Amino acid sequence: MNILITGANGQLGNEMRILSEQHTQHTYFFTDVAELDITSREAVQHFVTENAIDIIVNCAAYTNVDKAESDEELAYAINATAAENLGRSGAKVIHISTDYVFSGDGFIPYTETDSVAPRTAYGRTKLAGEELLQAICPEAIIIRTAWLYSTFGNNFVKTMLRLGQERESLGVVFDQIGSPTYAADLAVAIFAAIESPEWHAGVYHFTNEGVCSWYDFTHEIFARAQSLLSKGAADTVANCQLRPILSSEYQYQTPRPHYSVLNKTKIKQTFGITIPHWTEALQVCLEKLLKE
Ligand SMILES: NC(=O)c1ccc[n+]([C@@H]2O[C@H](COP(=O)([O-])OP(=O)(O)OC[C@H]3O[C@@H](n4cnc5c(N)ncnc54)[C@H](OP(=O)(O)O)[C@@H]3O)[C@@H](O)[C@H]2O)c1
Repeated sequence: MNILITGANGQLGNEMRILSEQHTQHTYFFTDVAELDITSREAVQHFVTENAIDIIVNCAAYTNVDKAESDEELAYAINATAAENLGRSGAKVIHISTDYVFSGDGFIPYTETDSVAPRTAYGRTKLAGEELLQAICPEAIIIRTAWLYSTFGNNFVKTMLRLGQERESLGVVFDQIGSPTYAADLAVAIFAAIESPEWHAGVYHFTNEGVCSWYDFTHEIFARAQSLLSKGAADTVANCQLRPILSSEYQYQTPRPHYSVLNKTKIKQTFGITIPHWTEALQVCLEKLLKE
């Protein structure tokens, strides 16, 4: 099959590129905005027709939650209109969405059929993307994920590793609960959907297994990094005093969901996948990151 990966320079796009080397039966087209701006309906249609694309994996997005508040028009073009453009192209689409479609007020892991109620511009534009895509292309697969990190791009893991070496003390919120997601594991799930004997359209949830707060996540990053870093750097991280703080103590520009845990039963049962626990996934990522 001919598979187009959009947003290929991002965290997930890069992990798709790496994993594609294990799925050599397909021909891949890795594009980012310079090669294919997915907000252009004509450009998408031309690319899909010209290259006889069978499946599009949409890893492109406007992901800056704070900036989206003042830049909702552009966020909408990339997260919503572009998803519709892809759905209109005639190719099958696997689209990535987010826990931000939910209010974050829950306390039971969100299922795919739970009510959506985004609280941010980012969440609104991502929800609009889901809705426009499903309206034009009911055969689409939509995978919502959360707390994504990778060895590529900027993310929470890299920021905490840096701050742990720069600061003597660090406060991290412990009243926002979710499940970290290693983008390489999400790529495995995407390939499971691609390789499935049947195409199973619909909405799915995917994160790594287990639940934690951002504080717990940082605690684990620091603990695991210490055994991988050089002695000097490990001592600096060990000496950084990590403090649990409340969201109200942190100056968020945009409110963050307090509860982002997603129920993954559907994706596991439909595609027969086993998902690593977030601590195991973190170890794999840190080993790659700190070896580089
Ligand atoms: N990051 C998270 O914590 C998180 C959480 C939940 C869900 N998600 C979802 O997971 C998916 C993957 O996220 P990610 O973290 O891998 O994103 P990312 O690292 O921000 O990568 C997105 C890529 O899309 C590109 N892009 C932006 N506008 C484009 C356009 N018009 N046409 C083509 N490409 C364009 C970006 O280029 P520029 O960098 O030049 O803009 C970037 O290379 C997204 O759908 C995101 O909403 C992410």
